[in-house]
Amino acid sequence: MTRRVTLNTLREYKRKDEKFTCLTAYDASFASILDANGVDVLLVGDSLGMVVQGHDSTLPVTVDDMVYHCQAVSRGCQRALLMVDMPFMADASPAQALDSAARLMKQGGAHIVKLEGGAVMADTIMLLSNRGIPVCAHLGLLPQSINKLGAYRVQGRDDEGAQRILDDARLLEQAGADVLLLECVPAALAAQVTRNAGVPVIGIGAGNACDGQVLVLYDMLGITPGKRPRFSRDFLEQAGSVSSAIQAYDMAVRSGEFPGPEHSFE
Ligand code: KIV
Repeated sequence: MTRRVTLNTLREYKRKDEKFTCLTAYDASFASILDANGVDVLLVGDSLGMVVQGHDSTLPVTVDDMVYHCQAVSRGCQRALLMVDMPFMADASPAQALDSAARLMKQGGAHIVKLEGGAVMADTIMLLSNRGIPVCAHLGLLPQSINKLGAYRVQGRDDEGAQRILDDARLLEQAGADVLLLECVPAALAAQVTRNAGVPVIGIGAGNACDGQVLVLYDMLGITPGKRPRFSRDFLEQAGSVSSAIQAYDMAVRSGEFPGPEHSFE
């Protein structure tokens, strides 16, 4: 029988200083290919609002949408840890977050929920954690805050922004976050957060010092409409099949070859 990846597996990777892999998945077919090719964590990301549903942001995605996609991914996934995004404002209060997380786990089959935000999410994370719900805290670029940010750009480049990310990472780990995820932050800052953290840190556009890496599946298969983000790579181009592309990604992350400096920010 296949042994399930758990939070302990990710902690063990960190302890041994070995990299692990994560990719987004939105349906059963891709989930089973990712799973069969050794990807450790499948993330049902609310990026599905953009790459699957065709919206121009992640904001319209609902808990019902996430439950639907999570159920599909869950059916295709035997080994990987199944992480799911809390969609925009499904965690507007700690009580609402508890309801949403319960649905994502009971109906969707998720093993861990990911939510966006810094210090403001500490009470929510503490409540979920105390109720036995594993949490990944997403810091750095927060796509759900696009209307406040004005553009998808690198975060933590100035001293104040960098210090805020360091402080938030520490606070949210203390509140009970089991995993941190850093999106689009300078590689040196991500390395510092990863060194300081007692929990595994996953990066996207955050350099190669993070414990694990994640990409949006459609970006790394080169099928995202429009321009591929600078921090991603088209692994299908050279690979010839989806399975080979996933294997190439998995190997490139585990060997530390991906992301290179050309996929990272200063
Ligand atoms: O929704 C998503 O796909 C994500 C990744 C960009 C990390 O949150």
